[in-house]
Formats: sequence, C-alpha cells, structure tokens
Amino acid sequence: MSAPYGPLTACAEATANIAMVKYWGKRDSILNLPVADSVALCLDSFPTRVLVTQAETAQDEVIWSGRPVQPPQLGRFGRILALLRERSGLRCTTRTEVRPQLPDAVGLAGSSAAFAAFALAASAAFRVEMSERELSALARLGSGSASRSVPGGFARWHRGQQADGSDSFSERFASALHWPELRLLAVIVSRQPKPVSSTVGMIRTSRTSALFPLFADQCSRLAPEAQAAIEGRDFDRLARIAELSAQTLHGLCLTASPPILYVRQRTIELLELACDLKRSVPLFFTLDAGPNPIFVTLAPHDLSVSREILQRFPDVEILSCGVGGGVRVADPGPIRSPS
Ligand code: DP6
Repeated sequence: MSAPYGPLTACAEATANIAMVKYWGKRDSILNLPVADSVALCLDSFPTRVLVTQAETAQDEVIWSGRPVQPPQLGRFGRILALLRERSGLRCTTRTEVRPQLPDAVGLAGSSAAFAAFALAASAAFRVEMSERELSALARLGSGSASRSVPGGFARWHRGQQADGSDSFSERFASALHWPELRLLAVIVSRQPKPVSSTVGMIRTSRTSALFPLFADQCSRLAPEAQAAIEGRDFDRLARIAELSAQTLHGLCLTASPPILYVRQRTIELLELACDLKRSVPLFFTLDAGPNPIFVTLAPHDLSVSREILQRFPDVEILSCGVGGGVRVADPGPIRSPS
C-alpha cells in the first residue's frame, strides 16, 4: 500500500464490531491471544479515524479525542509500533491522533475501531505491506476485538494454536451484503465509564471463577454454530446463540472474586422489554462489558422497536446501525485539529 500524504503520514478509519459469540479470556495477555474463537458483526456507522505522522519528539505520542494517552494504555500502541519499526527498519517516532465519531463514553466497543484503524494507518506510514490477515493480527496487539474490525462484515476471530499468535487473526466469512436486513440498535442507558475494564475483567474472571473453563468451552462450541446461523441467515438460531453467549458472560462475571456487575437497573428493564417485544417481532439482545444493551432486529422492524423503547424509556438514546465496515485508508483532511 502506498502512503499518499507525504513521508510517514497516513490516515485510516474503521468501525466497531459487536460480538455474537463473545471474546472473554486470554491464553496470552501480551499478544492478546484468546482462549476461544469469537464471531462478530462489524458496524456500518460511526467510524473512528486515526492519523499517524512522523514526530519530532523523543517518545511516541497518542492523542485520543483531544487528550494525551498515558501508560499503560500507551503501551498498546507501542506494541504495534515496535513491530512496524522492526519490519521497516525505520526508527523515527510518531504522533497519532485518534478521532472517534462517537464519544468513548457510549461504550460501543470504541477500542476495536481505534486499533483497527491505527494498525492500517501505522503500517501505511511505515511503508510495511501487510495482508489482511497480518493486519488483523497486528490490530489484535492493541485490543483483541480490534482484529475483527479489520475485515469487517461478519467476522470470525480464530483462536489459533501458535504461541507467537501468527494464526490468531479474524476473517470475514460473509460480506455485509449477505444480510442487509440485519439492524442493530445500541441503547445507551449510561455514559459513565465501566467499573472494570474488559481487559481487567477477563483476567479476573479467568483467574477466580470456577466457571471459566465451561465458558471457554461454550465459546468454542458456539462460534462455528454462529457462523452457520449467519451463513444460513437463520435469525432464530443466531438469536439463541447470541443471547446465550451474552448471558453466560454476565453470569460468569458475577462469579468472579470480587464479582463484576456491568448491568444497571435500566439494563434489566430493557432486557425485560426485549423479551416482551420478541413475542411479536424478530428480536434478540446482546450485551458487552457494560450496561448498554444492543437490540438486534430485521428491517423494517427497527423503527417500531426504537419507538417502543423510547416510549417506555424516553431518557435513553438509540444508535441505529447495519452491518458493514472493514478498515480503509481515509482522507486525513477533516481529522486535523483546528488551528
Ligand atoms: C465484552 O477487545 O476490549 O466486548 O483485548 O483486553 O483490549 P482487550 O479486550 P477487548 O474485549 C472485548 C470484550 C467484549 C466481547 C467481545 O467484543 O468479543
């Protein structure tokens, strides 16, 4: 890939993805190697744009939504940059600007979009040619779920067997066009930062919950089933799998020591509403490590589902998306800070 913006400058964008079979637990926490496969839908909306430029400073610098990123978060970028320096032979430092379209506080898997875009922008800036698989594995070093935002569409992240992570990457097994009727409604009940980050939460549960091995086995079993449900556009089958994976994740978190509780009162009320609504419309929910549920339905029911949610809970915000995404080179123009 050529970098059209001058020496060591490149810009890319990517969107978040929402797992139907959750990634939770690492067999290697430096390389972000998962204990099991996972399956996700990549969003078609709300891209995060990342600009990487050569810096004059002694250290790499990352500005995320206008604020400097500090260690240990900075180390996530450092792992990717270290690998690119080794591959390119270039030693210069970089300045990275991460500009999400959605505030991080909405908790919509923002790191998956940011690290997917960063992997492409940084590799283009360092002039390192990468296949999509390599790029997915590179993004994984920043945040595991970012590996799935690289291919976009309907993606499966392979656990892999190798200790160096070379076979742990995500692949698109169906394009967004495969199931254009699928709609995701992210219901924002809280913009507070979550009490325990995913990274810390998954380490704590894997170390302290006796149920963790069962959860990992379940993911390994559900991932091929979710792929088959998506390939067959079998909504009811996907609904059963996705709800089971999300419920098991939250049940698992409760059995950690100390327990982790991501849901709020309003989350539970919304899950009750989902159970009511699915008697009359195709609908299921999923829930990441936070209080904001995501309702999945089929067009044209998304509008009536949104209406029902807002009628019962006028204080929530709904972000509506389809499936799409896939990391791409972007025009850096609008990302520059106003001078
Ligand atoms: C609940 O990818 O954020 O969203 O690899 O430590 O950065 P790190 O974790 P992260 O975890 C995402 C967890 C999840 C489930 C999922 O997206 O599969």
